[in-house]
Amino acid sequence: MSVPKSEYLSSVWAPGIFANRVLFVTGGAGTICSAQTRAMVHLGADACIIGRNPEKTEKAAKDIAKVRSGARVIGIGNVDVRNFDNLKAAAERCVKELGAIDFVIAGAAGNFIAPISGLSPNAFKAVIDIDTIGTFNTVKATIPYLIESAARNPNPNPNGLTGGRIISVSATFHYTGMPLQAHVSAAKAAVDSLMASVSLEYGPYGVTANVIAPGAIEGTEGMERLASSAADKQKMTKAVPSGRWGSRRDIADATVYLFSDAGNYVNGTTLVVDGAGWRRQGGN
Ligand code: HXC
Repeated sequence: MSVPKSEYLSSVWAPGIFANRVLFVTGGAGTICSAQTRAMVHLGADACIIGRNPEKTEKAAKDIAKVRSGARVIGIGNVDVRNFDNLKAAAERCVKELGAIDFVIAGAAGNFIAPISGLSPNAFKAVIDIDTIGTFNTVKATIPYLIESAARNPNPNPNGLTGGRIISVSATFHYTGMPLQAHVSAAKAAVDSLMASVSLEYGPYGVTANVIAPGAIEGTEGMERLASSAADKQKMTKAVPSGRWGSRRDIADATVYLFSDAGNYVNGTTLVVDGAGWRRQGGN
């Protein structure tokens, strides 16, 4: 699948800024994380894409590798982020095949629309397990490599890119609460809290840990479910102060910023990329 560069990257980013660095991304075949990964690979990174479905994961890896001649992108399927041993083995394989893990995107997520009355305890737990426990497992499995990366690329280093770095992909629902998304709201609140602790514990090692909170993004599975009719979509677009939904490129650009040397000193924060949508989420 050929995806035009304009769909995942602004023109301001310089070629090669991530050369000789490796990105490890869970959910990398998904709509948002694949755009984040394309941008990173385009700018020089190699990447390891982790997913549950082997065919989808390997296909995404092959497609993403095409954005840059010589890019090394591997797909590791049959990995469930709920299983720490799966993730640990995937991280070991990434380091064996690509030499390092310098950047991590914890992007694997589970979502469906359901009222609390329609959520079984197991349904609630399934999303907590994927989003929250999955993010913890991803951090735990990759942090030794990120510490090594940070030792190779120390912080401060005003003239270069420091590392390693983690971004978790979260959401904004928990800022206000969100009907039909109680499970996701709770899971993402825990993700944000976890990442704050990671930034405190691993900042002294030179590792940065941040969160990107996308708002309504065009073409994503999550939004297709949340706004399944044209009327829903129009209502949700009207509620965004910037007057539009975000694009996958908006999220990819935020990722490049946080992982680039422009983001060397950004740690323990959440970058909300939502056109100020969350400020009206509660009906303001
Ligand atoms: C109520 C539901 C449900 C639904 C599943 N369940 N779908 N309950 N309404 N629509 C219940 C099941 O009945 C079961 O409970 C429990 O959830 C676990 O379901 P399983 O199918 O056994 O689990 P599993 O195969 O692990 O699937 C996990 C999943 C699934 C979360 C349910 O949707 C999934 O794999 N999703 C991954 C892909 C995905 O969702 N991507 C979109 C991410 S978008 P019982 O009691 O019956 O055992 C995103 C962005 C959020 O996260 C922000 C949007 C703007």
